[in-house]
Amino acid sequence: MFKLDGKVALVTGGSRGIGRAVCVALAARGAYVVVNFAGNAQAADDTLARIRDAGGDGESKQFDVSDAQAVDDAVTDIVKRRGRLDILVNNAGIALDQLLIRIKPEELEKTFATNVAGSLWCCKAAMRPMMKAKRGRIINLSSVVAESGNPGQAVYSASKAALIGLTKTLAREYASRGVTVNAVAPGFIETDMTSGLPEQAKQAIVAQTPLGRQGTVEEVAAAVVFLASDEASYVTGQVLRVNGGMYV
Ligand code: NAI
Repeated sequence: MFKLDGKVALVTGGSRGIGRAVCVALAARGAYVVVNFAGNAQAADDTLARIRDAGGDGESKQFDVSDAQAVDDAVTDIVKRRGRLDILVNNAGIALDQLLIRIKPEELEKTFATNVAGSLWCCKAAMRPMMKAKRGRIINLSSVVAESGNPGQAVYSASKAALIGLTKTLAREYASRGVTVNAVAPGFIETDMTSGLPEQAKQAIVAQTPLGRQGTVEEVAAAVVFLASDEASYVTGQVLRVNGGMYV
């Protein structure tokens, strides 16, 4: 089950955190993984090394997901060289946390340009080859806060809620073309994005999590693997929550 042999996957923001774990998990099941990174080539190479340690294969590719032309060029190049694009994981994201009364226009713009527009441009570029192949899997990384809300994350939670709307609309728009579109909504996961939180804040979040701990990047990656697999062929437009019961 969950074999991905012969498939080509693109994972945005694959050089660390959840994205890195997703790259390794997809590659371990046989997919050729294109590891997108924004700026840190060394970190992307580290992901590639882990892919190879897991017996997989892939390449790294630098582009900024918020640059529609760069995204289109990258996907065109992947399809030209590899002949296909089967799986897109929109993982790249940023969180610029701020109370509403302190939010600056540039914080809103940057967050939406990366989290929402970045995912949308990648979906747009990937849809062409997927429609042609009459098969495709798109997985968007949303967040528990899209549904639960969280003080200090007005912009971030709005951007992640927008991804759920995007996911549901694209699921309806492209179901007849054989492309499924789903979201994974992680809870509180141990990564660079969350490592900066004060210990007290971390403990408070864990206290609200029925499973009583932070999640791991591998636990999120497992959900992505499922949605990317043939076994998930009847699942589209869904939000798969990987949050330890924090929001049910
Ligand atoms: P992270 O901050 O460790 O990694 C995000 C990656 O996205 C980085 O490699 C970064 O370079 C890349 N990125 C940012 N802007 C980019 C751009 N314009 N173009 C290309 N790449 C770009 O984050 P983490 O924790 O691994 O999260 C991954 C995804 O999961 C994000 O979308 C995040 O919002 C989401 N998420 C994370 C949670 C957590 O607890 N860590 C909880 C819920 C959702």
